[in-house]
Amino acid sequence: MIARFHNPVDTRFGWGSLHQLADITEHQTVALVTFPEARGLGLVDRIQDLLGDRLVYVIEDVQPNPDVAQLRDTYERFWQEAGECHAVIAVGGGSAIDTAKALIVGTESGRFDELLALLATGKPFVPARSKALIAAPTTAGTGSEVTPWATIWDSASHKKYSLHLECTWPKVAIIDPQLMLTVPGGVTVSTGLDALSHALESVWNVNANPVSDTFAISAIADILECLPLLRRDLANSELRSRMALAALKAGLAFSNTKTALAHSISYEMTLRYGLPHGIACSFTLPLVLGMAWGHDAARDRTLQRIFGNDLHKAQNQLREFLHSLGVKTEFADYGVTAEQAEQMIDFAMQGARGKNFIGAKAA
Ligand SMILES: NC(=O)c1ccc[n+]([C@@H]2O[C@H](COP(=O)([O-])OP(=O)(O)OC[C@H]3O[C@@H](n4cnc5c(N)ncnc54)[C@H](O)[C@@H]3O)[C@@H](O)[C@H]2O)c1
Repeated sequence: MIARFHNPVDTRFGWGSLHQLADITEHQTVALVTFPEARGLGLVDRIQDLLGDRLVYVIEDVQPNPDVAQLRDTYERFWQEAGECHAVIAVGGGSAIDTAKALIVGTESGRFDELLALLATGKPFVPARSKALIAAPTTAGTGSEVTPWATIWDSASHKKYSLHLECTWPKVAIIDPQLMLTVPGGVTVSTGLDALSHALESVWNVNANPVSDTFAISAIADILECLPLLRRDLANSELRSRMALAALKAGLAFSNTKTALAHSISYEMTLRYGLPHGIACSFTLPLVLGMAWGHDAARDRTLQRIFGNDLHKAQNQLREFLHSLGVKTEFADYGVTAEQAEQMIDFAMQGARGKNFIGAKAA
């Protein structure tokens, strides 16, 4: 087997690395996309100080899970009012980064519905215009800073769109763990579990290879050790740094494999039951581990390097880990009956991400 790993993002990691933004954006005009709390935390002023008059536009009302209902207006105003800027910098969690990914894909008409129509075809397209994206995550979770994907939600119609183009790979990712110090406990846990899910999903994945495994195994070990400690010590800079690096490694792993069954299930759980992304894509991990085990000797070896040789013990370890973080692991805990769960798993298995699952062939 010849392994191929490709990730074109210029990636900078380290405490205080946000200050590199000034050098990275030299001679460019920049629009900032960030989350509502950022100004109160002094982040908008800090970026203003770093960029001076290069900062020409600010969007700071990004809500969790970018939804077409809000994006339409934001998108059209952005292209009318800041259509000339060179680059967009997203400073925030996955919601800000994914919003920015949608904004940089310019349609001929400047209308958002033209973009939605292109996305609805599910086929790749070349946008009429685009902008460079710089991504600085403020949560340790999504890995969106090193992937080309953006999830666009349409909660009113119970739908989601996946945006993925050559131009939606960020040009630069700045992972500065200092930006994560203010993330509240609940979001720290749910985003950390999102990262764990990325790493595991890249392992039980038909696209896995020894390079993606290397990132995934290391990310999983770090998260299993660090996340419970960080939850009790949110101001600990060393733990914040280790989780930031773990989420980056998980992002690199799944940037080449995509996600699999747990994520496919999660979309329904978020759209129908309102579960936060990180919980929705992690509460099934013990179940999906059981479904992954025994289908492919190479995948089993990687899973066994992480969890040991006993599947029952491995599932229990994962279950107890999630319980220790206050996350319930059964569908019934979320009001889903056994019959509904079975249907949801079957449906998820048929989705694009579900088909990446190593156990899907046998399903
Ligand atoms: N593109 C990808 O590859 C990818 C992968 C996973 C998830 N996602 C998407 O990412 C989104 C979720 O992102 P997320 O989990 O990072 O959460 P988020 O961006 O929605 O942020 C969660 C909450 O934390 C707040 N917040 C963020 N950073 C903060 C900070 N430093 N201090 C204080 N508060 C802060 C936000 O305002 C928000 O209220 C979902 O829409 C999901 O679909 C994308």
